[in-house]
Amino acid sequence: MSEHEGELAEAQREHWQQTYGQHPGMYGKEPSEAAVHAADIFRAAGARAVLELGAGHGRDALYFAREGFTVLATDFSPLGLEQLHETATAQGTAKRVTTAVHDVREPLPLADGSVDAVFAHMLLCMALSTREIHALVAEVCRVLRPGGAFVYTVRHTGDAHYGAGVGHGDDIWQQGGFAVHFFPRDLVDALADGWNLDEVHAFEEGGLPRRLWRVTQTLPQ
Ligand SMILES: C[S@@+](CC[C@H](N)C(=O)[O-])C[C@H]1O[C@@H](n2cnc3c(N)ncnc32)[C@H](O)[C@@H]1O
Repeated sequence: MSEHEGELAEAQREHWQQTYGQHPGMYGKEPSEAAVHAADIFRAAGARAVLELGAGHGRDALYFAREGFTVLATDFSPLGLEQLHETATAQGTAKRVTTAVHDVREPLPLADGSVDAVFAHMLLCMALSTREIHALVAEVCRVLRPGGAFVYTVRHTGDAHYGAGVGHGDDIWQQGGFAVHFFPRDLVDALADGWNLDEVHAFEEGGLPRRLWRVTQTLPQ
């Protein structure tokens, strides 16, 4: 990691901590459309154990738990995960949800082939370099069982905020404190090397709106 990457990552961790402190439950209680779609895919594949990366305060992790999956929800914001745990306790799903503070620039704290499915909504497009994103997807590949599904979403270069604000290089742009890596299509294809790329679906979320791709890729059996 370069000095600039390290400083940017640390500033982003603090920014997310502050954001969850000032706006608890900021993404609401309903699951994202991406999570609802992912749950259908995971169920059809017979998945039981789901890993969610960048789970935040848990609108999606809690949905997976309500749908009967066991979930390991990770994020580098302890505050987001505390909010997730409180809601899980209140909803009676705490026994199916485990949380772990984890920065995805580090290796995943899981054994090889130990999860059935991986979900990451707007996590790979955080302030991660292309090199760090490739290393993360290699880790997802390591911890996922053969035939397992990985569903992720990312903002892309067609988003209104692409090219606006402070540029950090490597397609990373910062607006209002939030740094985003806007994905070019060739990065999606490169990350699917060695996987089956099942779908790249364009959709929008929120008022801006954010323009995203929902990517589904599975490991060969
Ligand atoms: C755009 S939010 C999405 C949160 C959640 N997936 C949702 O849709 O409700 C991105 C999340 O990624 C987390 N995050 C950003 N960079 C991270 C990193 N390097 N490691 C782990 N989590 C990170 C943030 O704390 C934040 O919770």
